[in-house]
Amino acid sequence: MNTLPDTKAPHESDEDHLHFFADYEPPTDDFMADTLTGLSRNQKSLSPKYFYDQKGSALFDEICRAPEYYVTRTELALLDQILPEVAELTGPEAIVIEWGSGSSWKIRKLLDGLDNPAEYIAIDISRDHLKAAAAEIGRQYPDVKVGAICADFLAPIALPPEAIVSEGRRLGFLPGSTIGNFDPHVAAEILRKAAALLGAGGAMLIGVDLEKDEDTLLAAYDDAGGITASFNLNLLARMKDELGAQVDVDAFEHEAIYNREFHRVEMHLKAKVATGISIAGQEFIMAPGETIHTENSHKFTLAGFQEIAKTAGFEPEAVWRDPDGLFSLHYLTLP
Ligand code: AVI
Repeated sequence: MNTLPDTKAPHESDEDHLHFFADYEPPTDDFMADTLTGLSRNQKSLSPKYFYDQKGSALFDEICRAPEYYVTRTELALLDQILPEVAELTGPEAIVIEWGSGSSWKIRKLLDGLDNPAEYIAIDISRDHLKAAAAEIGRQYPDVKVGAICADFLAPIALPPEAIVSEGRRLGFLPGSTIGNFDPHVAAEILRKAAALLGAGGAMLIGVDLEKDEDTLLAAYDDAGGITASFNLNLLARMKDELGAQVDVDAFEHEAIYNREFHRVEMHLKAKVATGISIAGQEFIMAPGETIHTENSHKFTLAGFQEIAKTAGFEPEAVWRDPDGLFSLHYLTLP
């Protein structure tokens, strides 16, 4: 999601910097079909995966720097602090596997902090972004073999034989509380798939956002600068541009609420007045106050997340949180 600087020499291709590329050919997104289905529901909804076009990804980078969005800076500071312990727990020549390929500074911190990592493998659904991001790591870390796997987080993945370049520990990395964007049963399934890929003796370092007071949470998802609002409203702009939708973007506003029952911040696009969205001959009427639900961001207790991890076969080995108790990093192992 975060963009990387383009430092390619002329004629140099991304493949030159990849030790392997495995393509599981995940089904391509169908924005039109998903939008029509989502808007037909009683509670209208759209998947958060559609936030991340070029503009949305740039806005997400801005969110990560917003003063109210404590998540990124807290996790980075915590990562700095715990790296020696993570290195100690992991041992030398690890094979580092990242779910997602966008956390550019975080993976660099991890690779810099580990003891002589042997390999970095990125798993992502977005083929072009994945290749470019992984190749950039390959350019910057010539001593680390770099591979890329194009797949959905829920796909059963096996490492191709050429990917196994070391006897070192396989360390999965899923920072940023990305796991919180999935319903808990899906999060558990993602962890189960991760466990199968990492295998016995493998480990996982995972960033998990914590439950906290509602004011802090709501500010983080509705910053005063309006960056998160633009990020959310960009979905309507995408519908106009890419689906030819007729929609009055000004008739909507960004809304972030805390759902206590499900321990999650929800983002919605709320109709300020009676309005409608028409796409491909279908008309979706919206009453004032009616919303399109666009994202869930679950918040956890330390023990609550460990319970989910255990159902996927992991044992909690270590957990750290920042001094203000905002964010946590869990080191999970597979017996
Ligand atoms: C990517 N994900 C972990 C972010 C989150 O905090 O749920 C996405 C986000 N949505 C609004 N602000 C940030």
